[in-house]
Amino acid sequence: MEIFKITDAADLEKAFSIRKEVFVEEQHVPIEEEIDAYDTLDGECEHVLLTKDGQAVGTGRVRLVDDYGKIQRVAIRLTERKHGYGKVIIQKLEELAAARGATKAKLDAQVHAIGFYEKLGYTVQSDVFMDAGIEHVLMTKSLH
Ligand SMILES: CC(C)(COP(=O)(O)OP(=O)(O)OC[C@H]1O[C@@H](n2cnc3c(N)ncnc32)[C@H](O)[C@@H]1OP(=O)(O)O)[C@@H](O)C(=O)NCCC(=O)NCCS
Repeated sequence: MEIFKITDAADLEKAFSIRKEVFVEEQHVPIEEEIDAYDTLDGECEHVLLTKDGQAVGTGRVRLVDDYGKIQRVAIRLTERKHGYGKVIIQKLEELAAARGATKAKLDAQVHAIGFYEKLGYTVQSDVFMDAGIEHVLMTKSLH
């Protein structure tokens, strides 16, 4: 298993492919909402890719906003879940955010994933709200 910050267009395409499979095909998020202005290599977001035996299985991205890292688009291929890969993605995104000076991490968690994020130290900070037709809550964690 390898986890790394994406630095070239070919790896970014692999990340988009996972996200389309998970968010657009599995969760029915409209494609025009899934890919946005932050999905570049020269912008504010850092993207990560997790590979197993050379195959891309997971991704996520983090954007520095003020003093926190905003974690988004965390996705593991359906057949590769519950093997600890999601945890590795979050840890890498937190590390990248902390290296750029973030003292906190924030994310909008899908309600079904609250337990996953709680295991990683996040706490719920909001009521349930809708985004892309899916129930979410704001969760945060101190990176100190
Ligand atoms: C949410 C997601 C990223 C989790 O990835 P994963 O690789 O299956 O998670 P891990 O195997 O690293 O799980 C880490 C821990 O959280 C637990 N966990 C995983 N998913 C969970 C869930 N939905 N609810 C509660 N606990 C969960 C695991 O059992 C594991 O616990 P352990 O450390 O005690 O063994 C994955 O299910 C996914 O890609 N879902 C579809 C996309 C999505 O909804 N992304 C989140 C958007 S907010």
